[in-house]
Amino acid sequence: MTFVRRIVSTLILSLFLLPTMTVHAEDLLKRGKRIAEKGTGSPGSVACMECHRLNGGGMPSIGSPRIAGQASAYIEHEILGVQKGTRYAPVMAGVVDNLSKKDIRSVALYYASVRSPKLPDVSPPDQPLVALGKHIAQKGLWKKNIPACVLCHGPDGRGIPPHFPYIEGQNKGYLLRQLVSFAFLKRKDDPQGLMRGIARRLSQRERKAVAEYFASLTPPAVAGRGR
Ligand code: HEC
Ligand code: HEC
Repeated sequence: MTFVRRIVSTLILSLFLLPTMTVHAEDLLKRGKRIAEKGTGSPGSVACMECHRLNGGGMPSIGSPRIAGQASAYIEHEILGVQKGTRYAPVMAGVVDNLSKKDIRSVALYYASVRSPKLPDVSPPDQPLVALGKHIAQKGLWKKNIPACVLCHGPDGRGIPPHFPYIEGQNKGYLLRQLVSFAFLKRKDDPQGLMRGIARRLSQRERKAVAEYFASLTPPAVAGRGR
């Protein structure tokens, strides 16, 4: 009897909890969209869409990354890193300073939920570099102790949420800039220095090649999923 009562009360409780949880998530999404579109309203606040667009496609011309469908935990981690100064982000730094934890959570959920088509990049793929990049991405360069990128970033670089971001279909300017930042130890937010070591061992031509390769692909709609 008590067992049955416990089940019934759990069921009733979850009936009450479910809708409130959904409403809560919807509130955060709405708040996130408002921040993306208009900023927080506090002085100096800049709307994310100025550089990432409302649907998260980014802006290849200024090397602003696409963040549409990137895992919300990763987006949150990066913004917190920018605030703490552990994530090197010269353009973003001033922009996210005054976001609260709740703002960050909201805007991360929002950008994880939006979809964007691939936008035209600054130049067509450089085919010889794409071929070299594909080889490094899929097979690694074991003589230089460089593992295949897809081991951590997933098949074709589509991401393994929550910790490994998708890099498939990201714009080339952003990709190259991140690899250079890791290589020259400006960006230091990668666990155990994994990316720093890899980026340093690649030559500049090889860094360009993997950037050309991943940029030549179509991004996943959502991190971790095939198309
Ligand atoms: C003035 C342009 C600009 C604005 C406004 C801006 N960003 Fe950025 N964002 C960038 C650039 C450029 C980078 C790459 C790092 C850098 O160079 O600073 C970046 C990086 C990021 C990253 C890391 C992406 C990754 O793959 O690691 C996230 C997440 C992000 N921005 C989210 C936001 C959010 C959320 C807002 C609004 C609150 C915002 N950005 C506003 C330009 C901007
Ligand atoms: C051992 C695992 C591992 C391997 C192998 C690896 N990466 Fe990464 N990479 C990571 C992690 C983890 C991050 C996210 C760091 C963070 O949290 O900011 C990352 C981040 C990146 C970023 C920045 C993404 C963004 O949105 O800002 C780029 C670009 C990148 N990796 C490219 C590569 C390339 C190219 C290769 C192959 C040459 C490679 N990675 C191999 C673990 C790996």
